[in-house]
Amino acid sequence: MGNGNLRGKVAIVTGGASGIGEAVTRLFAERGARVVAVDLQRDAGEALARELGDAVVFRQGDVSDRAVADAAVAAAVERFGALDTLINNASASRQKPIEEQTDDDWRLAMDTGLYATRNFMLAALPELKKAGGASIVNFGSGAGLDGQPNQASYAAAKEAIRGLSRVAANEWAAYGIRVNVVCPMAMTSGVVQWAEARPEQYAQSAAKVPLGRFGDPARDVAPIVAFLASDDAQYMTGQTVMADGGAIKLR
Ligand SMILES: NC(=O)c1ccc[n+]([C@@H]2O[C@H](COP(=O)([O-])OP(=O)(O)OC[C@H]3O[C@@H](n4cnc5c(N)ncnc54)[C@H](O)[C@@H]3O)[C@@H](O)[C@H]2O)c1
Repeated sequence: MGNGNLRGKVAIVTGGASGIGEAVTRLFAERGARVVAVDLQRDAGEALARELGDAVVFRQGDVSDRAVADAAVAAAVERFGALDTLINNASASRQKPIEEQTDDDWRLAMDTGLYATRNFMLAALPELKKAGGASIVNFGSGAGLDGQPNQASYAAAKEAIRGLSRVAANEWAAYGIRVNVVCPMAMTSGVVQWAEARPEQYAQSAAKVPLGRFGDPARDVAPIVAFLASDDAQYMTGQTVMADGGAIKLR
C-alpha cells in the first residue's frame, strides 16, 4: 500500500474526540489502524466511536491521571491484541501574561501536557517494546518555539515535551521505538477560543503563514501524524516536524 499506510497498527490517540485528535482518529481508522481514543469529552468520543465502528474504542478520562493511561493500554491489548503507536495529542492551558499565571494555571499546562505525555509513554512502554517497530508522536507548539506572549506555562510544557521526546528517542531506539514531535497549526475549537480572546495575536500568527492559511486538522495535520506513525518514517526519530504552513522553519 502507499505512503502513510497504517494497516495493522494499533494506536492510542489522546484528546481523540475533537480537534486535531479527532482528525487523527478518523484518518488512522480510514488507513486501516485500530484506535483507542481517550478524551474528557464523553459524548463526542462515544459518538465518534459509534460512527467509526469496530476500528475505534473510546475511553473517557483525564490524561493527567496515570490510571487512565494504564486503562487505555489495557483496552488496546484487550480489544485489539497489541499496542504499537502512541499519539500524545491532548493538552489544556490558559493564556495570560506571566505575572498573572497562577500555580493552578501552571499545573493545568504541565499535568495535561508534560506529565500526561510521560504517563502514556511509561504506560505504553511494555507493549511498545514487544511491537518491534513502534512509534510515538508527541505534540509540541510553535508557541514554545517562538515564545508567544501569554503562553508561558503552555510554552514551557511543550518545550519540556520536546526535551523528553529527544531523550526517549535516544534511550528507546534500542527497543525499536521511534519518538517524534509534531508542532501543528490548525483551526480547531481551541484555536477559535484563543482567536476570540486574543484577536491581535491570532491575526499576527495567521499573517506569518507562508502558505496563506491556518491549517485544516484533517487535510493538513493528520496526514503528517500518520506519516510519522507509519513505517515510511522508519528512519526518523527524535525530530520535531512543523505542520504549520511554513510559519516556523527549524534549522
Ligand atoms: N490547533 C493549533 O493550531 C495548535 C497549535 C500548536 C499546538 N497545538 C497542539 O496540538 C494538540 C491538539 O490541539 P487542538 O487545537 O486540536 O486542541 P483542542 O483544544 O481543540 O482539543 C484538545 C482535545 O484534548 C482533550 N483534552 C483536553 N484536556 C484533556 C484532559 N485533561 N484529558 C483528556 N482529554 C483532554 C479535549 O477534550 C479535546 O478533545 C494540542 O497538544 C495542542 O497544544 C495545536
